[in-house]
Amino acid sequence: MTQTLAPVIAVDGPSGVGKGTVCQWLAARLGWRLLDSGALYRLTALAALRRQLSLDDEAQLEAVAAGLAVEFAPGADQGPLILLDGVEVGVELRGESCAAAASRVAALPAVRAALLQRQRDFRQLPGLIADGRDMGTVVFPDARLKLFLTASAEERAKRRYKQLREKGLDANLMSLVEEINARDGRDAGRAVAPLKPAADAEALDTTALSVAEVCNWAIDLAARRFEGLKIS
Ligand code: DC
Repeated sequence: MTQTLAPVIAVDGPSGVGKGTVCQWLAARLGWRLLDSGALYRLTALAALRRQLSLDDEAQLEAVAAGLAVEFAPGADQGPLILLDGVEVGVELRGESCAAAASRVAALPAVRAALLQRQRDFRQLPGLIADGRDMGTVVFPDARLKLFLTASAEERAKRRYKQLREKGLDANLMSLVEEINARDGRDAGRAVAPLKPAADAEALDTTALSVAEVCNWAIDLAARRFEGLKIS
């Protein structure tokens, strides 16, 4: 029996570039599923921190990643609810300490391998919007449309600052710029699945663009790439 593989739009780029917003918007407009792959790395980091594991212990972290009891439930405007061991962890997951730990955990090849199939399982009809760093290069190399978003570190820090303040969380712009630069270095410099555009990716520098402009660019490309695409 041959099964039709669901179409995939891979959306990659550095942290804070606004991929999450664009991906949620695309998924809603197309009625496709959404994979927030960064959340899986953050969840692995959170589960490890809670168990007080060393973030250098690759074998233990691989076991944590393989055994993650995670659920993505439909949520409101802020995106899906994320549950770890049945408990909602969205706010904790978005915190800077979890982000920093996730970036270390994501550099471990065994952790990436343990999360690979879990990510591919999100590929279901009518289609998948895959948000991450290596969606177009490693996880879904056959994606029909690959987008790669960039923006200056300063602009990304400003967007993150605004996001955190809107959620009532403490934030410092200067330290956000530093953290973003450090994370960029780790994500792009690591040996496995480094952050880089796929050869066949469509790239866009969003520094001077609004969210609406980026969304329109993405949906225009999708409409041209996928015949008969239903857009609501
Ligand atoms: O997108 P994010 O900020 O939630 O990602 C958290 C961390 O996980 C970040 O340091 C990059 C890493 N990551 C990754 O290595 N590969 C992915 N596909 C997604 C995220």
